[in-house]
Amino acid sequence: MSEGQKKGNAESSVMEKLVALCKRRGLISQSSQIYGGINGCWDYGPVGVELKRNVKEDWWMVNVRLRDDIVGMDSSIIMHPAVWQASGHIDGFNDQLVDCKSCKQRFRIDHLETDVCPDCGGELTDPKSFNLMFKTQLGAVEVDATDVYLRPETCQSIFVNFKEVQTVSRQKVPFGIGQMGKSFRNEVTPRNFIFRSREFEQMEIEYFCHQDDAPKFYTEWCDRRLQWYLDLGIDRDNLRLREFKNDELAHYARACTDIEYQFPFGWQELEGIADRGTYDLDHHSQHSRKDLSYFDEGRKEKYMPTVIEPSAGVDRTVLALLCDAYDEEPERVVLRLSPLVAPVKVGVFPLVKKEGLPDIARNIYDRLRRKFVAVYDEGGSVGRRYRRLDEVGTPYCVTVDFQTKEDETVTIRDRDSMEQERIKIDELESLLDRKCSRSE
Ligand code: GAP
Repeated sequence: MSEGQKKGNAESSVMEKLVALCKRRGLISQSSQIYGGINGCWDYGPVGVELKRNVKEDWWMVNVRLRDDIVGMDSSIIMHPAVWQASGHIDGFNDQLVDCKSCKQRFRIDHLETDVCPDCGGELTDPKSFNLMFKTQLGAVEVDATDVYLRPETCQSIFVNFKEVQTVSRQKVPFGIGQMGKSFRNEVTPRNFIFRSREFEQMEIEYFCHQDDAPKFYTEWCDRRLQWYLDLGIDRDNLRLREFKNDELAHYARACTDIEYQFPFGWQELEGIADRGTYDLDHHSQHSRKDLSYFDEGRKEKYMPTVIEPSAGVDRTVLALLCDAYDEEPERVVLRLSPLVAPVKVGVFPLVKKEGLPDIARNIYDRLRRKFVAVYDEGGSVGRRYRRLDEVGTPYCVTVDFQTKEDETVTIRDRDSMEQERIKIDELESLLDRKCSRSE
């Protein structure tokens, strides 16, 4: 077997194991499975939904709630179709596709390294344009219905609402608007689990500034956003910044840097930080005939703000966290997720199902679950209970034993060191608070 084949096999086996773990433990599974599944759409299960929420909540906290110069919004997914005309998506949001004349597989031309079919070596057709937006109709009666689109990015509603949000929030440029939510792209080749899906979530900030300040904010955002992935516990060696060459830039961008993660299938984009110049506000001003320029009291100057856009994917962040955390030991599989993002923060067990231990454990669980996602488990040996929770990255497990009845202490076991410490029941909440929040 060649080195390349060995590497390919190792990559697919890590991904296969991760996908199987996600399904087995209620993190993520394919949509509509009982009907055979649907390509490019995924469901987050009881554990996955908590992991995803933690990612989104931390992003919102750091980028919106804790910042004086950023406000949030949450717009509708379906917008006036003129938005997508102005943004350039109706005319330009296309992939160039080719089909293999022999095996009929379809490929994106920018994903191909050869000019023949990478699967069977067959001849390829001439490229065809394929618009990535999902089209649907607004209105009950088909003849009167209007064609509308599911948004392919969350940011356009921020541009369209720029003036109103700036006015109601009494913000002055420089300031930003943050939004997170679903986006839809009819990807030709959804692949690599949740990495490239047809329905996914984005977390975007549009930061409006004077063009003279754009280089400073662009650099600041690159640093800040990289730091966020480090704060979530991702290994620095698996992250890098990659600046685009001019011929790689999207039609709206003057500069762009990707934050890339080293996935088992290679270095790939997690987030893009783009200098969009005045492209979007200019186009929406022209198409809507509403002046979206800004009068800067300090500079005594009217101008169209320049936009710096850090645009991240929720699902790609989740996948990077899972890949980074996945670890196999001889006795167990463990997700070494940071306590900040771990979906379940604590497991609570009675050592045995007798002598009142379950009642005490339930009591502790009821107290803790008000603040932390907790699991109560009395099934099987304590070792097996630990293993189940290790597999979903639970950083702490609390066991109630006979000594608890005497001195109101429990053992708390650390997922990574597997060491146990005895602490007072009353100290549990503050310990978990410290360990699972940003400050520590
Ligand atoms: N507003 C700019 C914009 O949408 P993008 O690079 O096309 O830029 C931003 O998308 C981020 O959205 C990507 O870095 C990625 O994390 C996420 N994303 C884009 N397409 C995706 C897809 N098909 N599946 C999952 N995430 C996707």
